[in-house]
Amino acid sequence: MEVNYLGHSCFSIHIGGKTLLFDPFITPNPLAKAIDIKSLKADFILISHAHFDHIADALELAQNTQAKIIAIWEICDWLQKQGYSNTHAMNIGGSFAFDFGKVQMVKAEHSSAFPDGSYGGQAAGFVITSPEKTIYFAGDTALCSDMQIIGMKHKIDLAFLPLGSNFTMDVEDAVIASKWIKCQSVIGMHFDTFGYIVIDHEKAQAQFKAADIQLTLMNIGQSIQI
Ligand code: NI
Ligand code: MN
Repeated sequence: MEVNYLGHSCFSIHIGGKTLLFDPFITPNPLAKAIDIKSLKADFILISHAHFDHIADALELAQNTQAKIIAIWEICDWLQKQGYSNTHAMNIGGSFAFDFGKVQMVKAEHSSAFPDGSYGGQAAGFVITSPEKTIYFAGDTALCSDMQIIGMKHKIDLAFLPLGSNFTMDVEDAVIASKWIKCQSVIGMHFDTFGYIVIDHEKAQAQFKAADIQLTLMNIGQSIQI
């Protein structure tokens, strides 16, 4: 499995023979200005919720790549109204077996509305089970006790967790979330992009290390093999 960080909560992940792009927010992100979205490939685009910092480039990337968009019903409905119909709508708790692996849409404790104020459905996360790895992409979320269900049901090899606080859980709560989902390896997201969510990297590393959990804070543009 290959993970490429595109800034904020946006990742391109090669898993199960397909390229999955999560929460595209690249062109409005000054930290990601080295990324050329025209060069990005995707077979699927997964969107956790409708906030601008998760969906900004979704339509353009979908049109460029003709990727299938996986998101909650209300986001797919909105995309259809924008003229993009290659979507697969899901809702919280549901699973579907795609060719790269099985996707379960799970709860995120967060709000969700489009930039124009229209309703974006409930905020979500994804658990993806493939023959290679099982991964959890939390989206924007507070620590919530439902994460214990994820740990009970799945064997999570790698988790993508927000760390920046203010809009989501902070590092301390992300450590608790890691324990609840029973995952030893975490990639941080949703930090440093805006002033409110700047984190101390060394302190975050130390907090995870104290709990015996590996935290990776990727550089934008960096790719790692897992
Ligand atoms: Ni959000
Ligand atoms: Mn966000």
